[in-house]
Amino acid sequence: MQTKRYALITGANKGIGFETALQLGRMGYVILLGARNELKGEEAAQLLVNKNIEAHSIMLDVTRQATIEAAVSQIKQKFGSLDVLINNAGISAGGATPPSQISLEDIRKTYDTNFFGMISVTQAMLPLLQQSSAGRIVNLTSGLGSLAFNSDPTHEHAQFNLLAYNSSKAAVNMFTVTLAKEFRNTPLKINSADPGFTATDLNGFTGLGTVKQAAAIVVKLAVLDENGPSGGFHGHGGELPW
Ligand SMILES: NC(=O)c1ccc[n+]([C@@H]2O[C@H](COP(=O)([O-])OP(=O)(O)OC[C@H]3O[C@@H](n4cnc5c(N)ncnc54)[C@H](OP(=O)(O)O)[C@@H]3O)[C@@H](O)[C@H]2O)c1
Repeated sequence: MQTKRYALITGANKGIGFETALQLGRMGYVILLGARNELKGEEAAQLLVNKNIEAHSIMLDVTRQATIEAAVSQIKQKFGSLDVLINNAGISAGGATPPSQISLEDIRKTYDTNFFGMISVTQAMLPLLQQSSAGRIVNLTSGLGSLAFNSDPTHEHAQFNLLAYNSSKAAVNMFTVTLAKEFRNTPLKINSADPGFTATDLNGFTGLGTVKQAAAIVVKLAVLDENGPSGGFHGHGGELPW
């Protein structure tokens, strides 16, 4: 009998996170559906249960350390292990305000969720992930976090000159690289995933791709076998330039 594999996805009550939960659930993973709003989390988990997926809502606000610690205890007590962590929760405070004018408050807010929150959740979940024979961490980044794309005025991303969001995702990429280096001689694999410009609440549904397409790259990196890459920046078309 195959033992259960557990996947925690932050910010999974909607958007790309929810679709990732759906796709991993269909592959047989037990879904630990992270949501900062308990009710929204429970409703989203119920939608998965209605599709015959084993899913449990976990209250988790990545900017609130107490909820992260409570989530670790809950996972330890109820499930005993964790195989996949998808660091999906993300925001874009300050939006398209020009770099010369965006407030430090908006930059800090964006970093609190996208970068510091990701680090806190990962550090807290690492002891559980290290107990897995094939622990996988997928960090949601963006092509907008690529310094190469940002510095090319002809690139399609050039119009999105978002200091807070873009730099937070560049920082996410550095987190991926440094963490993967630290764990290179272990079974753990840690990668950055760019889901592509996707129609979700994050961009007022102006994105061009569907969440189904977006989640595919996230899921691919979550289920890598032991020969898969670690420390990479991956999009739908393959590796992306830093
Ligand atoms: N959409 C795109 O074009 C695109 C492109 C590249 C990368 N990404 C990345 O993909 C990820 C998912 O984005 P999305 O497009 O699916 O956006 P979304 O629909 O706005 O979903 C974002 C999710 O993050 C949650 N969240 C925000 N702050 C949180 C916090 N402090 N703690 C826990 N959860 C929190 C939200 O919860 P609430 O419902 O409570 O707000 C929501 O569940 C993000 O990291 C984003 O940067 C998106």
